[in-house]
Amino acid sequence: MRSGFETKRVIIGPDGFKKVVDIASPNKIGLPNGQIDSTQLAEIKPGNSFAVNGVDYYVLNCDMFDYVMYYLKRRTQIVYPKEGAYILMRLDVSPGKRVGEAGTGSGAFTVCLSRAVGPEGRVYTYEQREEFYKLAEKNIRGFSEFNNVVMHHKSINEGIEERDLDAFFLDVREPWEVLAEVRKALKPAGHLGILVPTTNQVAETMTSLEKNGFYISEVVEIMMRKYKLVPERLRPEDLMIGHTGYLIFARKLGE
Ligand SMILES: C[S@@+](CC[C@H](N)C(=O)[O-])C[C@H]1O[C@@H](n2cnc3c(N)ncnc32)[C@H](O)[C@@H]1O
Repeated sequence: MRSGFETKRVIIGPDGFKKVVDIASPNKIGLPNGQIDSTQLAEIKPGNSFAVNGVDYYVLNCDMFDYVMYYLKRRTQIVYPKEGAYILMRLDVSPGKRVGEAGTGSGAFTVCLSRAVGPEGRVYTYEQREEFYKLAEKNIRGFSEFNNVVMHHKSINEGIEERDLDAFFLDVREPWEVLAEVRKALKPAGHLGILVPTTNQVAETMTSLEKNGFYISEVVEIMMRKYKLVPERLRPEDLMIGHTGYLIFARKLGE
């Protein structure tokens, strides 16, 4: 049986119904007006429809956005796609690169890094809390496009095992405390990205970046406004997410 990402399917239906399911798990899949067996669903080619009690549903293959936003189990705040995509570009993550990350959290950004570095690259991810380490392991395995993620169950305050990394991403509460360790792990001129939710944390991190020999290239916040999907009355949604986090980008200076 196939595993991971390729066994996930998205079911879409009337009134904005959307559900991401795993056709590899032998369960009945609940729908608003009935259910379908996962083995029956597995027979339906993505892009095609099926009917349950007279209501039509469509099946799509699951993409990374749907996996992260609708399937992956979250028990921590995660890196959202609007930040994740920008971070990948800012850190210049590309196939074959070796990148580090802490904390792993729910593993949402780890799977993005895993795809971006591809089969020849490596993602080294650190998580200090056992419950999140275990959850992330499951979420990363559930995606499993490439076998390129090395998970460490430890705090990076105790040291980062790798050296000469191309880039590092920090999503921890006190990034200013670990910059000396991150510096040792990065190659000269290596890229660093940091996400923090409050401006106090931004200021403290900036001071520490300067002390630790980093060039701060950018502090930025990304806002996204979604539109209601009604062509006759096209307008933004009434409510928007006002704040997720601040991003800080830097480069390692010197040796
Ligand atoms: C906001 S979550 C990270 C979410 C993750 N980026 C995602 O997209 O799913 C922060 C995580 O960092 C972990 N953490 C905090 N300080 C750490 C440290 N010094 N070393 C390793 N993990 C740490 C926490 O236990 C928590 O799971």
